[in-house]
Amino acid sequence: MIHRSGRTPPLTEKQIGQVRQFMYDVCGIDLNDKAYLINSKIGSLMFRLRISSFDDFWHRAMTPDAAGDELRYTIVDHLTTHYSYFWREERHFTYMKRLIREKKLPCSASEDGTCRVWSAGCSTGQETYNIAMLLEDASREGILTGSYEVIGSDISRRAVREACKGHYDMTDYVRLPAPWRGGYMFHIPGGCEVKPKLRQTVQFRVENLLDPAPSKPYDLIFCRNVMIYLDSISQRRAFEVFHRSLLPGGYLFLGYTELMWDIPGFTYIDPSVYQKTGGAP
Ligand SMILES: C[S@@+](CC[C@H](N)C(=O)[O-])C[C@H]1O[C@@H](n2cnc3c(N)ncnc32)[C@H](O)[C@@H]1O
Repeated sequence: MIHRSGRTPPLTEKQIGQVRQFMYDVCGIDLNDKAYLINSKIGSLMFRLRISSFDDFWHRAMTPDAAGDELRYTIVDHLTTHYSYFWREERHFTYMKRLIREKKLPCSASEDGTCRVWSAGCSTGQETYNIAMLLEDASREGILTGSYEVIGSDISRRAVREACKGHYDMTDYVRLPAPWRGGYMFHIPGGCEVKPKLRQTVQFRVENLLDPAPSKPYDLIFCRNVMIYLDSISQRRAFEVFHRSLLPGGYLFLGYTELMWDIPGFTYIDPSVYQKTGGAP
């Protein structure tokens, strides 16, 4: 029954547990202590879909057909946090530029010299485009001599759709350093858009970072402001994936608040920056 308030009744503990387990199984996200979030997000989704019974809603979501797939993706979209902006935690970009300039990335010693970067948990794409802007600048300045590839991935289909569009509002635009605003963005009504030339240098995909498709090894992995949503078991799985996915001597960037002292197979070298130095953890 839908309440007179227009809201669905609060979920029971058992129903909250079902949603929590689903999110953990699908993305490793820990929603313990997040009953209020589950209640409000699932409640508004049920309301939007005009489904009044949680059991009906859940049955539809768990049915292995196209409609069930769609609903499961929508649940993930609703229960993930996509907050992101340009030039976030900018110290990392300065550090990355220094690594390129000082020829410290594995690509400087490789045969084809291609620099490969993975932005894991890229949300709506600002971090990924920032990386591409930096690499394009480095190429133009001649400090990056090979080509480059940038991959952005996220478990949320909605976030990846937004990332592919490359449309942002003006509050986000003004955060970019001035030369990048003119160089890589143009104005559209109500905001700005990443120029097609830069968009073409970036590939986005919907993917669980705990179970990524095979790819060539990376020089750098950015996985910032994602670990805070995972429990310690999923974090360990993520570090194993990153270790496997990086070239020896490659670098991992976490968010400023995700500082960890001891990641097996990595050496801490700067706040929230780690280098792959050891064998498999
Ligand atoms: C707060 S955003 C961080 C965006 C960007 N990295 C930044 O620092 O601005 C966290 C993103 O991680 C994604 N995410 C969470 N768990 C994931 C997983 N297992 N695989 C891929 N993406 C995941 C969420 O969908 C969300 O878009």
